[in-house]
Amino acid sequence: MPEMKKIFAICGNTLEVSSNLRILQFLQKQSESKLVFEIFQDLAGLPHFNPALDGENPPAAVLAFREKIADATGVIICTPEYVFSLPGSLKNALEWTVSTTVFDQKPCGLITASAHGAKAHESLELIMRTIGARFEEQHRLLIQGVKGKFDNEGQLKDEVTKARLNEFWQAFIQLMDQIFPKSPHS
Ligand SMILES: Cc1cc2nc3c(=O)[nH]c(=O)nc-3n(C[C@H](O)[C@H](O)[C@H](O)COP(=O)(O)O)c2cc1C
Repeated sequence: MPEMKKIFAICGNTLEVSSNLRILQFLQKQSESKLVFEIFQDLAGLPHFNPALDGENPPAAVLAFREKIADATGVIICTPEYVFSLPGSLKNALEWTVSTTVFDQKPCGLITASAHGAKAHESLELIMRTIGARFEEQHRLLIQGVKGKFDNEGQLKDEVTKARLNEFWQAFIQLMDQIFPKSPHS
């Protein structure tokens, strides 16, 4: 039996509870038991990028992070904007992938969920194109005013946002199916 497709979802927020994490958890529920959907919440566990350490023996946490990306059928990044850019911890993690080909042709979905977020969203697109990720317009989603989209219990209450996330999800599944008609692991 072929292995299930695997999604590696990177949360750009290092908080234990955040709107960005909740968005990924909302998508995780869509995947039911048909896909493996792993949420990575440990950007803070990666060392600061240092070209001197990016040789033959990079730090173990970096190797593990790269392996998760390489092994995934697709990667989703969901991030807030910090001072009109990506959070430093997310940018740091992406810097550790530049010397590799882990993102080359990798189906990617890019969500920026923030108060405003337009600059970070633009920057994320440029970075991901530069490192070879595969995505089109329908695989990008900017959610502005994100904190107001949840109720007091942390449930996504905004129907428009739910619909946009569902559309994004369908498009992302199609992208993975298009690039890997069967599981890449089978
Ligand atoms: C250091 C810092 C800088 C921020 N800068 C921006 C910014 O430039 N643009 C923006 O939209 N939000 C900014 N924010 C607000 C966050 O994006 C906001 O918390 C967002 O809703 C993220 O949601 P979450 O933390 O619940 O995942 C900033 C927050 C922090 C902590």
